[in-house]
Amino acid sequence: MEKLKICGGSRLSGTLRVHGAKNAALPILAASLLPGECVLHNCPRLTDVEAACNILAQLGASAHREGESVVVSGGGDCCCCIPDELMRRMRSSIVFLGAIIAKCGWARISLPGGCELGPRPIDLHLAALERLGVEIGEDHGYLDCRVRDRLHGGIVTLPFPSVGATENVMIAAALAEGETVIRNAAREPEISDLADFLNACGGRVRIAQNGDVRIEGVRSLSPCEHRVISDRIAAATYLSCAAITGGELLLTGVCTEHLSAVLPCFEEMGCRIETTAETIRLEAPKRLHPLRCVRTMPYPGFPTDAQSPLMAAACLADGSSMFVENIFESRYKQVPELARMGADIKVEGRIALVHGVRELHSASVHCTDLRGGAAIAVAALAAQGESELLEIGHIDRGYERFEENLASIGAQVRREA
Ligand code: EPZ
Repeated sequence: MEKLKICGGSRLSGTLRVHGAKNAALPILAASLLPGECVLHNCPRLTDVEAACNILAQLGASAHREGESVVVSGGGDCCCCIPDELMRRMRSSIVFLGAIIAKCGWARISLPGGCELGPRPIDLHLAALERLGVEIGEDHGYLDCRVRDRLHGGIVTLPFPSVGATENVMIAAALAEGETVIRNAAREPEISDLADFLNACGGRVRIAQNGDVRIEGVRSLSPCEHRVISDRIAAATYLSCAAITGGELLLTGVCTEHLSAVLPCFEEMGCRIETTAETIRLEAPKRLHPLRCVRTMPYPGFPTDAQSPLMAAACLADGSSMFVENIFESRYKQVPELARMGADIKVEGRIALVHGVRELHSASVHCTDLRGGAAIAVAALAAQGESELLEIGHIDRGYERFEENLASIGAQVRREA
């Protein structure tokens, strides 16, 4: 089992180019089943992307990497069943459901696995797809989904702006008969990126001013090329690494407007932030100030995925910070691991109170999930001594060349088998 060894105390300084967004690439890879052929540029080298390519192969398409791009081809006959093992590897596999149904008219998939962030049901996905004419039955942990003749458009009102449910409906509706309107749709940048991809393939997807997503179904989609947007969560994570070490960092290749709710938090902590449309420069103070209250919300609010890396940075602040996790039921799994490094954090339900301490010490710690793993790496960069991070497969799901990037800006980090 691979591990990371991080020797804390170095002040990070330098420039990093941020990779393509995992949470944009995954739904777009699922949607690529529909045109059958496409080239995705700026597609990140992540194990979750590999898992999605494996699912495409299982479904009869093939996906291979050419440098920074992934080429998907072979949209011929599509197998409509995703085996249990692949579905369990990551929760976002559920976003293939809409694509398979749109392509083949039926799908058989097992209930998905993925991050342990509390119960992660798929009821919103299923209820939404039923509005488009999908008949869904459950059979020994498998979902059997069928369409009598062709998917039809409809009005889908999401009780919660679920990112995945919005994406599933967009993909299924792209080839449905008639118009679909998604009310209370998610507004994350990854939704717009998926819409841009579908439109590049000849789809008709429009995001209205009020946030409704309107999809006019077409008979077929055609091959296209698309550039995946930059990963705003990776950007927030690297900013947290620089902030906790009193460092300075220039991020390039970002979409600064996607971090509009994140950058003010770093300024509140005493960091100087300078931005252009595609670059962010952060200069941290010797010691960070606390955060009055960070509430995670659907976009454009503060993103839940950036909560744990920012919490790690707050552990060394000169005061107490409050976090309120409104999106997932259990997204504080990193807290016990941070506590092993000397952090002083109290969790009550959705609220976490972080009392800043003067110093953290090294420890052997476990990555609990993707962003929780990133959080303990952030803390280890500023802890006294050498920390050992276990189960780093979680980190590899969402961060490309993680230790190389950190080492390139001065971190003392190495991966060990
Ligand atoms: C996407 O997950 C992201 N994953 C998550 O990133 C991100 O945290 C989340 O959106 C919120 O922004 C991908 O895009 C691959 P949701 P998703 O559906 O689609 C509940 C990361 O670290 N819910 O918006 O699963 C759900 O339990 C990952 O990169 C239902 O109740 O998020 C959660 O509490 C983690 N029923 C809330 O909604 C449903 O049918 C948000 O879920 C679906 C969701």
